[in-house]
Amino acid sequence: MNKSETSSKINVYIGSDHAGYDMKQKIISDPRLSFINFIDVGTNSNDSVDYPDYAEILANNVLKNNGYGVAICGTGIGISIALNKVKGIYTAVINDPEIAKLAREHNNLNVVSLSGRFSTADNNIKIIENFFKENFSNDPRHLKRLNKIKDIEKK
Ligand code: RB5
Repeated sequence: MNKSETSSKINVYIGSDHAGYDMKQKIISDPRLSFINFIDVGTNSNDSVDYPDYAEILANNVLKNNGYGVAICGTGIGISIALNKVKGIYTAVINDPEIAKLAREHNNLNVVSLSGRFSTADNNIKIIENFFKENFSNDPRHLKRLNKIKDIEKK
């Protein structure tokens, strides 16, 4: 994946709304994720904000740097819907660490969306670990299907 120029860490953009803020802070500081250099795009407190605003900031950073992202809101649903409206962003709400592997291997997601209120920090950290340690399989069956998604985008 995307290696930092100054270290061997993977650069990952991370953003949330207020309902994901506490979870975001726990994720950024967890030693199990020290192989990731998190670039925090906000929000920066528990004050109420609108998840589409942070989805757009996160999406722009991911696309500009051809990188990857972690997005968090209360359920993960709202921020994932907003992210998927940006061409070139592919995300889904992931609640299970095994599915996190398949989300990279089969679906080649570039952003993992998480719940701040209905998942534990431990579960989300396992999801992130699995997501960023897995690569896209490059299996022609999966490539064909992802290309069909891109065809739908063009219609
Ligand atoms: C905010 O209260 C909440 O609606 C939001 O974080 C998210 O869960 C939306 O899908």
